[in-house]
Amino acid sequence: MSENAKVNVKGNDYDFPLLEGTEQEVAIAIKKLRGSTSGVITLDPGFKNTGSCKSEITFLNGEEGVLRYRGYDIEELANKANFLEVAYLVIFGELPTKAELVKFEKEVNDKSFVNEEMKKIVDGFPRSAHPMGILSSMTSALTAFYPTPLDISSDEAIYKAVVRSLGKFPVLGAWAMRKRNGWPLGYTDSKMNYIENLLKLLFERPSETFEPNQKVVRALNKLLILHIDHEQNCSTSTVRLIGSSHAGLHASISGGVSALWGPLHGGANQAVLEMLEAIQKDGGDVEKYIAKAKDKNDPFRLMGFGHRVYKNFDPRARIIKSSADEVLAELGVDDPLLDIAMKLEKAALNDEYFKARKLYPNVDFYSGIIYRAMGIPVEMFTVMFAIGRLPGWIAQWVEMRKNNEPIGRPRQLYVGKTQRDFVSIEKR
Ligand code: ACO
Repeated sequence: MSENAKVNVKGNDYDFPLLEGTEQEVAIAIKKLRGSTSGVITLDPGFKNTGSCKSEITFLNGEEGVLRYRGYDIEELANKANFLEVAYLVIFGELPTKAELVKFEKEVNDKSFVNEEMKKIVDGFPRSAHPMGILSSMTSALTAFYPTPLDISSDEAIYKAVVRSLGKFPVLGAWAMRKRNGWPLGYTDSKMNYIENLLKLLFERPSETFEPNQKVVRALNKLLILHIDHEQNCSTSTVRLIGSSHAGLHASISGGVSALWGPLHGGANQAVLEMLEAIQKDGGDVEKYIAKAKDKNDPFRLMGFGHRVYKNFDPRARIIKSSADEVLAELGVDDPLLDIAMKLEKAALNDEYFKARKLYPNVDFYSGIIYRAMGIPVEMFTVMFAIGRLPGWIAQWVEMRKNNEPIGRPRQLYVGKTQRDFVSIEKR
């Protein structure tokens, strides 16, 4: 793109290049703004208008409800591929061949063993600890057990780190839940695939041979694929920002887990279910909660509604909604919360407040109902999200390091006191 953006600052004209992405999105490259204007910066709290990087991983068009990983439509991937196949695509850029996938799956499983010393760390947590806190700490602790810094110039070293991370993370996530339940901490089975193993890690009882329910496996496979990446969201930006200081992969992912935990981000799936339960306990009056969400004097927000970038239906929510019906029917679960969710969705979609603000159900609105039907406890919902998001965090971290991006260091507009004299304590 040859045109420039013209900016006039305090009577002086400046030209900044316009960059165009492969989907015709346009960005003003302001790298030289501060230097050429002697100190002027842009101010964009929440980064609603700020691109932090160029990326080849995920394309998202919030206005049209489009989501693609490496050019492939999310819907096609969710319906036709398995989780590790899509993880491979997202991390390495191309779909694996059959031989590559078989090798990848085997190696991920081989590397799922976690140093037994890690169990002592799990042991130290109180049983009341939230699994996301345990997962974040345990992911960070991996750094102590695998301290060799990753040589980003070596594809082999990257591949090994990817395999190790994908192998161990679900084990740690499941341990976080088992600790809470007082259950023994287990491992994967080399004869099972990634999703079957995840269910085994979560639900296996010492006295029984674990047999995964294939309907649950298929639904979970789809659900986790939908969560793999979502470009520069809060947790992914956190992972990239931490990694930009050349902190290690696991240290960066641990920060991503913490960022995902918040109720405005991944923690929303837990918050949605708690909200639906509260509405049910309160008699199921959906209209009352719609009114509360619209009341500016009431801090209540309709959890699972609205999205920073989707100002149209979240394409993941559409896929998840149909899969919620399917899973509940297949598992023979009749969940009154699903009825409340559907009524809430219908009421909101027909309400002027929600229509005017383009607030639609997001990915979290139905995922909690599916997890609940699968027997996954509510405090584990965000851990499941994190397990799904891991390949995306890894892909973004590797891309950031391979592109040799500079350390992330935003500026600020200082609005505090100007210089003043110190007042001794006797005179204050
Ligand atoms: N319920 C009621 N009103 C809402 C909601 C909601 N869920 N979401 C946004 N609004 C309103 C705001 O009050 C605001 O109204 P105003 O213009 O009259 O002041 C307007 O819609 C715009 O809201 P913002 O907060 O500016 O929107 P933003 O894009 O910054 O926030 C967010 C997006 C954080 C997701 C927000 O919609 C929200 O809090 N939703 C509920 C939590 C949730 O579901 N989070 C999961 C996100 S998806 C994910 O992380 C996987």
